Amino acid sequence: MASSLVLCLVSLLMATISTTTCTPQELNRDANSDPTDRPSGSHRRPETPEMSGGPWRSIKAELVHKDHPLRAAPGSLSFKEKAERDFQSSRRRSEVLRSRHERLLAGGGGLPTYLSNLTMTVIEDVYVMTISLGTPAQNFVAVADTGSDLTWLQCQPCEHCLPQADPLYDPSRSSSHANLTCADSACQLFTSQLPDFTHPNCPMQSGSTSNASCNFFYSYADGSNMTGDLAVETIHLTSTDGAVVDVPNFLFGCSQSFFSDSGLSSNKADGFVGLGQGDFSFPSQLGDSFGNIFSYCLVLATAVATQTSPILFGSAALSNATGIQYTPILHNDTTFYNVGLQAISVAGQPLEIPSSVFADNGGTIFDSGFTITNLEPQALDALVTALAAAIPFPQIPGGISGFHCWNASGLTAADIAARVPTVSFNFTGANYELSYLNTFVSAGDANFCLYMIPGSPSIIGNYQQRNVYVVYDRANSQIGFVPRNCSDVVSF
Ligand SMILES: *[C@@H]1O[C@H](CO)[C@@H](O)[C@H](O)[C@H]1NC(C)=O
Ligand SMILES: *[C@@H]1O[C@H](CO)[C@@H](O)[C@H](O)[C@H]1NC(C)=O
Ligand SMILES: *[C@@H]1O[C@H](CO)[C@@H](O)[C@H](O)[C@H]1NC(C)=O
Ligand SMILES: *[C@@H]1O[C@H](CO)[C@@H](O)[C@H](O)[C@H]1NC(C)=O
Ligand SMILES: *[C@@H]1O[C@H](CO)[C@@H](O)[C@H](O)[C@H]1NC(C)=O
Ligand SMILES: *[C@@H]1O[C@H](CO)[C@@H](O)[C@H](O)[C@H]1NC(C)=O
Ligand SMILES: *[C@@H]1O[C@H](CO)[C@@H](O)[C@H](O)[C@H]1NC(C)=O
Ligand SMILES: *[C@@H]1O[C@H](CO)[C@@H](O)[C@H](O)[C@H]1NC(C)=O
Ligand SMILES: *[C@@H]1O[C@H](CO)[C@@H](O)[C@H](O)[C@H]1NC(C)=O
Repeated sequence: MASSLVLCLVSLLMATISTTTCTPQELNRDANSDPTDRPSGSHRRPETPEMSGGPWRSIKAELVHKDHPLRAAPGSLSFKEKAERDFQSSRRRSEVLRSRHERLLAGGGGLPTYLSNLTMTVIEDVYVMTISLGTPAQNFVAVADTGSDLTWLQCQPCEHCLPQADPLYDPSRSSSHANLTCADSACQLFTSQLPDFTHPNCPMQSGSTSNASCNFFYSYADGSNMTGDLAVETIHLTSTDGAVVDVPNFLFGCSQSFFSDSGLSSNKADGFVGLGQGDFSFPSQLGDSFGNIFSYCLVLATAVATQTSPILFGSAALSNATGIQYTPILHNDTTFYNVGLQAISVAGQPLEIPSSVFADNGGTIFDSGFTITNLEPQALDALVTALAAAIPFPQIPGGISGFHCWNASGLTAADIAARVPTVSFNFTGANYELSYLNTFVSAGDANFCLYMIPGSPSIIGNYQQRNVYVVYDRANSQIGFVPRNCSDVVSF
């Protein structure tokens, strides 16, 4: 989907850091849309530091700084409360995802999208990433989401914002902020790629010469909705040797109002960082300057309050990848990272699941912003049947909170883990062996439950990615993974 023109315009937006060259024909296609035409009052920053070959070819971000309020110890929710929250959030998002996916499969879309459970920002459920932007710098934490593209923050002036942990981003305090106008090519590209957005200011999807701000409205499957403006800013990245690298003209969304009927508590993230494959995502905007590769290693929820999960962009993404196995990314024209699931195995034995069950929906998605793995219902049924036959404890009739559970009364977690079989996902060319902690969740009193739910398409959620080193090798269109103690992985 990403034509060279698209790539060219996006890289132009990133100006100095891209290595893509644009021909004059491409640039002149719409003279008014030169993204260097900023609204008056904004300043183009001087050239960025020379990026190629420098020590900053790798950058790191922390998944929550150790002193940040969002890093408070996980709450004391009961299993039932936690499971219901995770279940609902995964299911809601899945509804959105499914409709996107169907459109992609029907050939009508396949374009970058926003989608996320915006309230699922409790630290146990999603991982939030530190981001710094503006001149002078303002710092935020935002959900690290491989299932969406746009990076957005709640901004001043905010008509209706969700509670968040940090002060709102204030464009008026930043000399490097610039609103996009309808005439900016990036706005036109964005609006044309996101047909679900309405753009009250910029009804024309191309050729507009209006200087009105590039605003958007979006509603989510559960009825919550957001309005905001597209803008560009200088973001500050920290290289693995500690140097700060400025990337000017980073495109992001400034949310001015967000409405949701769902109950929200305080201590929420400030926005989202879109890590998808679309043209506007964080890694797509960084592009080849950072080798088009990133990795993360998510610590267990129990370690979140004290340990950092590193997320690395650039060659350092491979620093802890010994023993990694790769599986191809199936589509590069969509937000989602789809890979080919061939089989599910229990104790090394593949279950009898027709391969069409996995193939029919375009592949299985790796999604960091999604908590509990969704499996195609037929595959989940086969897995539960095989586990029921292999687990030497009574199954709890009717389950708990919709999950399939077993009663290992009298045993410790370590005893249980030693006596249940290993579940593996066999992807094309790579086996993903789940630990006990990735497969099951404790439901108290030696009851434990399979922490997966039915859903289509299948999605590997972050619960199943914890203590796994995951590499998104976009340059070679492959995803790699290897089990790791993420608490031990050096984050530089
Ligand atoms: C997100 O998930 C939480 C937890 O299940 C739920 O309370 C909330 O309503 C969901 N919000 C959206 C926007 O889907
Ligand atoms: C950018 O847009 C926001 C919201 O529309 C507005 O409040 C702000 O004044 C604009 N900033 C500039 C520099 O035009
Ligand atoms: C847009 O252009 C019109 C006409 O040149 C001008 O009057 C107006 O102030 C401009 N608006 C902004 C937001 O720059
Ligand atoms: C946005 O969501 C709120 C709360 O659910 C709702 O009252 C409002 O009508 C929605 N706005 C639009 C334009 O759909
Ligand atoms: C991770 O990478 C660092 C830097 O290369 C290395 O020192 C460390 O031993 C690696 N750790 C593991 C668990 O591979
Ligand atoms: C996307 O995939 C196609 C087919 O595999 C390939 O030819 C193309 O180069 C890829 N594009 C990018 C940007 O990786
Ligand atoms: C699936 O992965 C497991 C774990 O690595 C392995 O033992 C099994 O042989 C694999 N099965 C298939 C069909 O590839
Ligand atoms: C688990 O088994 C124990 C001992 O048999 C029993 O007391 C307890 O009620 C069971 N729990 C559930 C949830 O079935
Ligand atoms: C993982 O590493 C942490 C920190 O070094 C350590 O405390 C923990 O015991 C390790 N966990 C396992 C399962 O080895």
